[in-house]
Amino acid sequence: TQLSAAHPDGKHIDVIAHRGASGYAPEHTLAAYKKALEMKADYIELDLHMTKDGELVAIHDATLARTTNVEQVYPNRAPWRVKDFTLAEIKRLDAGSWFNKKFPQYASKQYGKEKIPTLQEVIDWLTQSKSKTALYIETKDPNVYSGMEEKLVGILKKNGYLQKGKVIFQSFSETSLRKLKGLVPPNIPLIQLYSASTIRNKPIDHILRHVSSYADGISPEQTIVTRKLVTKAHQYHLVIHPYTVNTTEEMRRQIALGVDGLFTDYPDRLVKMNKKQ
Ligand code: G3P
Ligand code: CA
Repeated sequence: TQLSAAHPDGKHIDVIAHRGASGYAPEHTLAAYKKALEMKADYIELDLHMTKDGELVAIHDATLARTTNVEQVYPNRAPWRVKDFTLAEIKRLDAGSWFNKKFPQYASKQYGKEKIPTLQEVIDWLTQSKSKTALYIETKDPNVYSGMEEKLVGILKKNGYLQKGKVIFQSFSETSLRKLKGLVPPNIPLIQLYSASTIRNKPIDHILRHVSSYADGISPEQTIVTRKLVTKAHQYHLVIHPYTVNTTEEMRRQIALGVDGLFTDYPDRLVKMNKKQ
């Protein structure tokens, strides 16, 4: 069911739970990943940063401010960059209460106990779950964290996750993807991310020819997806996984354009649409 380009009508659209089922639980916590699993997402998306003592942790932002209580716990350490804190310091933070405040309709007392997970902890949890859900891992700010790719690949290898069907890599950084290409078996997919501004009004053929020399797919912001982009991506044997697609109307539109998978904060909605097809 995973990562197949250009299926016929009625195809399965890969469900990529963006930061976990982050519409329903605090992003990048085991609670959000657990919900993604329960909803039967094909992939859990992980954004990785690195701590001061070199641990890979799952968090979207380069700073701890938005998704933890770091400002209360360490008031004198602005701007609270992940790279300036050790893992032990980060483990003191509450990574869920912000969500309860922002989304009271989905609040749960349990979320107040959530911590920022390390990559190793996510893998341990996923392994014991015995689920088929795979990881879709993004190297964030790889220019800031030297040795990030080697460390990432080392952890996946040690845990038996450097296998087709268990992991996909994604990055906005071509350099990071090229590094990964040199480190992983050729059958592990690499996906180039594009924000709207980086490819809007640029020659599509040139971009796709270039990316197909080192990657297996593209993940553009949904606003720039057109039928032409999808068709051309498939001509270059690239899969296309737009982000971040949250309403059923948006999902329907993207599916009609022929995409292969979608990043979404609401994986249950896309799973439901797959069932209807
Ligand atoms: O990785 C796809 C999408 O997540 C990219 O944007 O900012 O949510 O990491 P962002
Ligand atoms: Ca991401």
